[in-house]
Order: sequence, then structure tokens, then C-alpha cells
Amino acid sequence: MNNITPVHSQDELHARLLAITGAYPQDQVFLLCDSNSHRHCLPLLRRGKLEALLPETHVICLPAGDQNKNIDSLSLIWQTLSRNGATRHALLLNLGGGMITDIGGFAAATFKRGIGFVNLPTTLLACVDAAQGGKTGINFNGLKNEVGAFCPAREVLVYPAFFQTLGKSDLACGYAEMLKHGLLSTPGHWQEVIRLELADVCQAGFSGILMRSMQVKADIVAQDPTENGLRKCLNLGHTVGHAFESWSHEQQQPVPHGYAVAWGLICELYLSMRLLGFPKEPFQQTIYRIKEVFGALPFSCKNYPSLIEKMHHDKKNSGDKIQFALLSDIGQIHIDQVVDEKTIEESLDFYLDFMGY
Ligand code: GLY
Repeated sequence: MNNITPVHSQDELHARLLAITGAYPQDQVFLLCDSNSHRHCLPLLRRGKLEALLPETHVICLPAGDQNKNIDSLSLIWQTLSRNGATRHALLLNLGGGMITDIGGFAAATFKRGIGFVNLPTTLLACVDAAQGGKTGINFNGLKNEVGAFCPAREVLVYPAFFQTLGKSDLACGYAEMLKHGLLSTPGHWQEVIRLELADVCQAGFSGILMRSMQVKADIVAQDPTENGLRKCLNLGHTVGHAFESWSHEQQQPVPHGYAVAWGLICELYLSMRLLGFPKEPFQQTIYRIKEVFGALPFSCKNYPSLIEKMHHDKKNSGDKIQFALLSDIGQIHIDQVVDEKTIEESLDFYLDFMGY
């Protein structure tokens, strides 16, 4: 399986880390984390030889939160690498959620025109999404991921025990992306994700489902690393989802990204059924599962113009048309589907009706 390595115990984690870092001179290994992963996850890493490999001066800790994925944090990483004599043969270990793997990947991609980096995702969401696939970057000028580069991690080291420190809402955010991967792949994988309980994360058997979920993205990225075509399907649920997310921020009642994507999946599966004949049975099962895990976002038809306006700003659009990645069945992907505003409103009507508003 490409560059994704699962480890199941702390001993396995140490052995793998030592094997990776062993190829680098002792003073050339750096670790990036944030205040959360510094507190909860770094202690699991630093034991025996690794303690010596990672002196405090080589640990770069950023304040947690996506607002810190910015040029100042990036400059701090570059400065720390530079001050401590990092060469082109240095290695950066990124220990954290998507914020850390994005900014750490970008710092590594650009320092001395590129050093190697390994991602150790500490959230389920980062594990199934940001940590793999080579998208790196920072927010800039008030815009998310405005500056960045495609640059894959040398390895993604997956240790599900990290997720034990996560609350229900963080787990649910990762689960939303796993549901998406289920829909993009095969009926068998979709079934196992639909049946997965959040409480089962970190239990025996979970690692297999997690690896299969990550492999769905890995296979898609392998076919289209720089998102010229097929990779757009990883935005399933995100066109409506991003509109829900930014609208909720505007209302000053922000919802987590994964929740917005899950609700977006309801609308986009409705469009898939209505326009491409996506079958009723998996449609019903998926939307009831989403309602059960994520509850509902309350809005009304008065908010449609604002939501549609936000969909017009989606990066995947061309011209003034709103484009979606839709499905004619599980795993049957159709990118660049233009949908008119009236039909999008119909999907929002369906959502409100289904949620009982
Ligand atoms: N998060 C979508 C992608 O990596 O393409």
C-alpha cells in the first residue's frame, strides 16, 4: 500500500519512527506539533532513542487552531529550521491534525527548495484526508489555503491510538469523510462504513476499515495528483457543505467542517438520485445514518439566496455555473456536473423536509 504505514502499538510506532529517522543524521530531524498534539501525543513518541533524536530545540510547537495556519507560523518554522542548521537532507515530522500537516508540508516543500516530511496525523479527519494526497499550504489574505504546493509526504504513519484523545465531534468530522470515501468506492466498503459506530474507532477491526478508507483517496490521487479531473470527486458533499459552513460562520454559530460536509452529502446525494439515478436504497441508508450521527443544521428557505451565492464561489466552478461531482451509483463518479439553481433549491427543500423543518 503506497506510503501509508499503519502501526498498532507504541512499540511498533517507535520501531517505525526509528527506522525512518535512522536514515537521517541526528541533528537533522525536526518535529512540528501544535499545543494539543504537544500535550497529548508527543509524550507517546519520545522514548529511549527518540528522546535523544528530538531535543527541545528541534521541536516546533504552534498554537492550535486553523487561524494559526498563517505566514507568521510558517516563518517561525523556517526560522527554527534555519537557526538549527537544517540542510536539504533534514526531515520534518508533522505531528498533528490537518492544520499541522498542511503548514508543515508546505514549510518542508519550500525550505531549501524542499526537504522530506513524514505525517503523523493525530485526528481521524487529518488521517483520512489532509495527511495524504500532497496538498500543502497556508491561509493568506483572509482566504483559506490561498498559498500552497502539491508535495506528498514521504510516509503517512497511522497510529489510531492517537484518536482516543478526541471528542465525539472530532471523530464525527473524520467519519463524514469516511462516508464520502464509502460512496466513492464499492458497496462493500460503503456498507462497513455505514455500520461503523464512532465508539468503535480505535477498537480491533477499525484499523482495517481505516486503511481501506485511506486507500480510496490514495487510489484517486494516484490517478490525478494535481486535481485536473477525477480528484474533483473528493469534493463530493463539499459544494453544498462549504456553503453551509461559511453560512454558519456568518450567523456566528459555526459548525465543524465535517458536519457541514455530511449535511452537504444529503443534498448532493439527492441531486445524484434526481439527475443521475443514484439508487434509492443506499440513498436512504446514508441520509438516515447522517441524521443519526450529525443531527441537523437549522435554516429556512429565506437563506437559500445566501447559500446559493456561496456555492457560486466554489473553486471547482467554471464561469458562473455551479458544478458538482455526483454519483450514478456507489463508485460511479461523474465530475463537472452543472446543476441549475432551481434544482439546487429543490435539494435544499428535500433537506429541510427530511430534517423536519
Ligand atoms: N480534500 C480533498 C483533496 O485532498 O483533494
